[in-house]
Amino acid sequence: MTERCDLLLTNLHAATMDPSIPGGYGAVEDAAVAVTGGRIVWIGPRRELPECTADRVIDGEGQWLTPGLVDCHTHLVYGGHRASEFARRLGGESYEEVARSGGGILSTVRATRAASAEQLYHAAEPRLRALLAEGVTTLEVKSGYGLELDTELKQLRTARRLAQHYPVDIVTTCLAAHALPPEYDGRADEYIDLVCEEILPAVAREQLADAVDMFCESIAFSVEQCQRVIDCARELDLPVKAHAEQLSSSGATSMAAQAGALSVDHIEYITDMDVAAMAENGTVAVLLPGAFYTLRETRVPPVDKLRASGVSIALSTDLNPGSCPIASLRLMMNMGCNLFGLTPAEALAGVTRSAARALGLCCSRGVLRAGLRADMVLWPMETPDQLAYEYGALKPAAIFFGGQNVTA
Ligand code: NIG
Ligand code: FE
Repeated sequence: MTERCDLLLTNLHAATMDPSIPGGYGAVEDAAVAVTGGRIVWIGPRRELPECTADRVIDGEGQWLTPGLVDCHTHLVYGGHRASEFARRLGGESYEEVARSGGGILSTVRATRAASAEQLYHAAEPRLRALLAEGVTTLEVKSGYGLELDTELKQLRTARRLAQHYPVDIVTTCLAAHALPPEYDGRADEYIDLVCEEILPAVAREQLADAVDMFCESIAFSVEQCQRVIDCARELDLPVKAHAEQLSSSGATSMAAQAGALSVDHIEYITDMDVAAMAENGTVAVLLPGAFYTLRETRVPPVDKLRASGVSIALSTDLNPGSCPIASLRLMMNMGCNLFGLTPAEALAGVTRSAARALGLCCSRGVLRAGLRADMVLWPMETPDQLAYEYGALKPAAIFFGGQNVTA
């Protein structure tokens, strides 16, 4: 580190989430953090801080600093809403029944196709602001409500445009294999041809997606169809991830893990074999407790087995108009503990280090460490255990994106 830095944060405790520092939080008590050029240049115990002058010094007043939060699975950009389905489900209809009757994802497809790019942008803004106010600094956004080239492109461009105007990094994922569009009714294989031959190549040409996702389920696509999407993504050099084993067990998780998927998401119904395949291939388990809660599911993902096998566990909102209309990653941390049995430290790892890994960003985000971008959140709390436990009143005292104070 040089003797001069842009910003010095001192008199704080750091939950670095660095796995090389013992304890679940990688905690450094009474720490200091120096930032230059938007990057952390030094972090450690304050007493070891090298002699330096800083353009700006912030007194952390004994609060806790964490990495900026990473929401690694969202469907943030969509048209319309599905509040009427809530009443139907409360009346006893299942998510699948609503979907099979033309509601569900297809209802959002109609609204998203009908919306202009401008309308989609403005509809997404309040959801994005809610996440940013909680300290999210990296976010994934999926397409998947177009199911035709133009609307898929419209969603992905909207996601890219949001990133130009807000202090957040947005990673985009093409989820064209989300549901069968009505014009392909009874012709799922032909729709997969369209995805592979037209949609994904066009998205790749415009560099609009950082990854490819798919929904493998009886109300969506078969394991074989998803395998074809994976093959074609790999030809285009795009990493893959999958919505799998949300409502039933299909073997999609093993298939995706063996194909090197960055993550498989939902996974309430995975088997021991799936867990082994994930462990072997370094595939992250992305748990989505908000969807589990919203759909009033009862089968919980096998957290003990994932833990015992050393699979990285991430947590995300899955923010979408159907299975999780909840724009709060902090609430997901709480649900991850209360509904799925994560520890508070696992919940924080799930929205930082492991979430970054689920996006293929494992070595550049989600940890406070010298050399990494200074995405950081300062929280007025006495212990990081409060983050997963308390909800509603505990808000960031300061949010830094690339070293800039962007507190909402
Ligand atoms: O992650 N599982 C599939 N896709 C979304 C839900 C999409 C919707 O209902 O609009 C999910 O739960
Ligand atoms: Fe999802």
